[in-house]
Amino acid sequence: REVGRIKQLKSTVDLDISSHLGIGHTRWATHGRPTKNNSHPHNYKDITIVHNGIIENYIELKNKLQRKKYKFKTDTDTEVAAVLLYDIYKRTNDMLKTIKIFKETVIGSYAIGMICSNYPDTLYAIKKNSPLILGIGNNENYLASDILAISFYTNKYIVLNDGDYAILHMNDVTIYNDKNEIVNYDIKTFENTDEVISKNGYEHYMLKEIYEEPEVVKKTASIKSIPDISSYKHIIIVACGSAMHAGLVGKQLIENNGNIPVTVEMASEFRYNKHFLDKDTIVIAISQSGETADTLEAVKIVKKQGIKTIGIINVKESSIAREVDHVIYTEAGREIAVATTKAYLSQVEVLAMIANKLCKDKTFDDYLRKVPLLIQEILGNEEQCKEIAKVIYSEKDIFFIGRGIDYALCMEGSLKLKEISYIHSEAYAAGELKHGTISLIENGTPVIGIVTDKNIASKTISNLKEVKARGAYVIYITPKSLYVEGDFYDRVVILPDIISMLEPLITVIPLQLIAYYTAKLNKCDIDNPKNLAKSVTVE
Ligand code: AGP
Repeated sequence: REVGRIKQLKSTVDLDISSHLGIGHTRWATHGRPTKNNSHPHNYKDITIVHNGIIENYIELKNKLQRKKYKFKTDTDTEVAAVLLYDIYKRTNDMLKTIKIFKETVIGSYAIGMICSNYPDTLYAIKKNSPLILGIGNNENYLASDILAISFYTNKYIVLNDGDYAILHMNDVTIYNDKNEIVNYDIKTFENTDEVISKNGYEHYMLKEIYEEPEVVKKTASIKSIPDISSYKHIIIVACGSAMHAGLVGKQLIENNGNIPVTVEMASEFRYNKHFLDKDTIVIAISQSGETADTLEAVKIVKKQGIKTIGIINVKESSIAREVDHVIYTEAGREIAVATTKAYLSQVEVLAMIANKLCKDKTFDDYLRKVPLLIQEILGNEEQCKEIAKVIYSEKDIFFIGRGIDYALCMEGSLKLKEISYIHSEAYAAGELKHGTISLIENGTPVIGIVTDKNIASKTISNLKEVKARGAYVIYITPKSLYVEGDFYDRVVILPDIISMLEPLITVIPLQLIAYYTAKLNKCDIDNPKNLAKSVTVE
């Protein structure tokens, strides 16, 4: 066990040991700080486990076990699970009975891999509410949270359902369902992306993935599974983080071109809010990983109410992809950097294609074919983004302002900057500044203004003038046809022109580059920002 990256752990492990059974875990801290002592596996005498999820009644269980004189060494809920499993096993001396009693005792979410020292050729799996799959190999079998984790070893897998538990040996697997009946699930095969994911000479995966965006746009444009949702009267988009920001862009595109009202919901809020759903509503879940717990739960909630669901997902056969009624796979390829760029772009492009399916703009496909070249033009002119990064990288607070679709793009630009450069930043509706936030603008405060909507461009430019008048350092991002010469900005990024439905695909590129080069100047761990994970499988 070790803190930090896998390479730190590797340096502490005796790699000469030979074994045929092992468990490992990369912890995203929920209970207890990210320390070596709190790292998994957690062991108590015969029982050792790794665990994704949250044991919600762990305090009550810990108190009961402490009254039985058990001692604890960590702050984690997982250690409580390990001690509980041992306490049950000590009484039953039977691992299957132990698992059954454990499931009846614990409240919460768990994907557990377990070893019992009395059965050194057996791996146990228990699954509830956290994703868990079995990888089926030749004379070897695996447990993993998602398919990507086993894709270098096998492309055959079995998906466990909530309440399932399994016994894995080298050459066989036995699965029990929630009613303790043996079940035989189909062994699925996934398209094995065993391409070696290298950086191809780029310093970071993130930059490589930004430079892949022209190709991603081309591949995404060829997607045939774009559904016609014209029969619905209300669309709800549920997602988290950048995927939610893509949803906010999609809202503008679908409402302005398809005339169907769209509500965008943060999945973590949606799952606990009151819902007003009816048969004329369709829910679109957006998720790069397809494993985000809040988004997955939101889908399950609406499905229980008979609502049709669509997924815009990047990882094939992921949990959300398997849950929705209709999945649209984004063609972004495997995205390694924690901060999403190409997957976000592909999500926005799919949403534009959904909008176009509604309005049938005859010029759409022709313009979409131009987008890769226009992105390449911006990438070829990345120097301007490096220069902007030099101005802002040592700042403490940076504002992004815009209106309508530009405000949605500000949200994504701000998140990209925050999550990889660790600079506080805020996306603000430009019209709201005068209602409070403008009091924060001081001499030199960087304000990035996004102005791509011709119908309200003059309004946002007025807001840029307001902040400029208060000393802000203004960075003005706008398409060539809307560019206005003036003294209200310090730097300008002029974008190539394209139809409004595709404009977001162009505008987000400099935002991603500015975030990247700012983080680079701050010497941040760009591909693996602190405290973040590529898929958040806990709520
Ligand atoms: C994106 O850069 C962030 N890492 C994060 O906000 C991410 O978009 C969010 O966690 C949702 O992930 P998903 O698309 O895999 O559901």
